[in-house]
Amino acid sequence: MNQSGPGDTASIEGLLSESARPGRSPESAGSGEAKKLDQILVVDDDDGIRRLLVDQIKAVGYPCRSAVNGEEALALAVTEPRPSLVVSDVQMPGLSGIELLQRLKQLDPHLQVIMVSGHHDMAVVRQALRDGAYDYLIKPFELEELANTVDRALQHYHLLKQNEAYRLNLERMVKAQTREILETRDLSLITLAKLAESRDNDTGLHLERMSEYSRRLAEEVARTGTYGDLVTDDFIHQLHRSSPLHDIGKVGIPDVVLLKPAALTDAEFKIMQRHTTIGGDTLRSVIETHTGHTFLVMAMEIAYSHHERWDGGGYPNGVAESKIPIAARIVTLADAYDAITSQRPYKQPFDHEEAVRRITRDRGLHFDPLLVDAFLVCHEDFETIKTRINQSPAVSGRDQ
Ligand SMILES: [Fe+2]
Repeated sequence: MNQSGPGDTASIEGLLSESARPGRSPESAGSGEAKKLDQILVVDDDDGIRRLLVDQIKAVGYPCRSAVNGEEALALAVTEPRPSLVVSDVQMPGLSGIELLQRLKQLDPHLQVIMVSGHHDMAVVRQALRDGAYDYLIKPFELEELANTVDRALQHYHLLKQNEAYRLNLERMVKAQTREILETRDLSLITLAKLAESRDNDTGLHLERMSEYSRRLAEEVARTGTYGDLVTDDFIHQLHRSSPLHDIGKVGIPDVVLLKPAALTDAEFKIMQRHTTIGGDTLRSVIETHTGHTFLVMAMEIAYSHHERWDGGGYPNGVAESKIPIAARIVTLADAYDAITSQRPYKQPFDHEEAVRRITRDRGLHFDPLLVDAFLVCHEDFETIKTRINQSPAVSGRDQ
């Protein structure tokens, strides 16, 4: 705290030691272009001391502004150009120097603060350093000491900023690489799915429509909160990339069955049904062999259960209602819409209205009734998706 009164020149000069009085060369305070870019803010309620500090800091080359109290200092601390360093008196009316220090550190943890006081109170010094002050100068002090402390505080400030920039850059690189890995993984999955699909559908558009229908239906379920926390944004993202794998087990179905241009016999249909367990078992073995691939769990559930029915009349296990994973129930409805509205070797495509009628008819039979309700809210989007994804003669087998 300054002992002098405003305008008391003799007392003001007492702030600095004899060798630090105005006029002394600031050569030893350092030089260079960088320091001229750093704004310094001086805070002192004593007009004379404040002016003296500002003059001395400007004399060693730094742009410097000043505030008469803590409140004004806080306002200037968030005004461009923002200060890199604050030199503050400890004892001031209103906000004290320590309180100002705490508030400044909350605003910007990298901002450096040098406390200046005429009192050598170790408790206050310890408090200031604990709260993040860079240094604590006791009046009177040498100009050289002030200049050196300012230089070191600013070097520390720039080191912190460089470290932060390095950390942020590192985080950006890690995020970019993670994104690349995930994109590669998703691409591998879709390639695998398309490879399986290509045996009986060479366009692959069925997969794209399926994943879009599934996502749209899941979004509607999430919007209404029908299944609470079960259908989240992450769930929808996983569903979108997992649903194309629903028929991956078709790779294990013989051509004579998969590509038969006529109705399947009962025995052939039994063979066709195996695509669910072939796909599910394959994904399960990958999950069990390679830990940490939880994203495949949903794909596995879908592969196993996308031909189960709400009433228990489906395959391969004949499970019913909530025993069928929700992701599989969504894909079941999406797959059915696509099957109804697509051309097959044995039928022409039905129109959208017929698909809505059939799905509504099978509410609580083939399909989860709550999912049918959600579908009826957003069914027009299904038609929009179908139109958008070029409804070519892309039809997946006859496994409905
Ligand atoms: Fe299937």
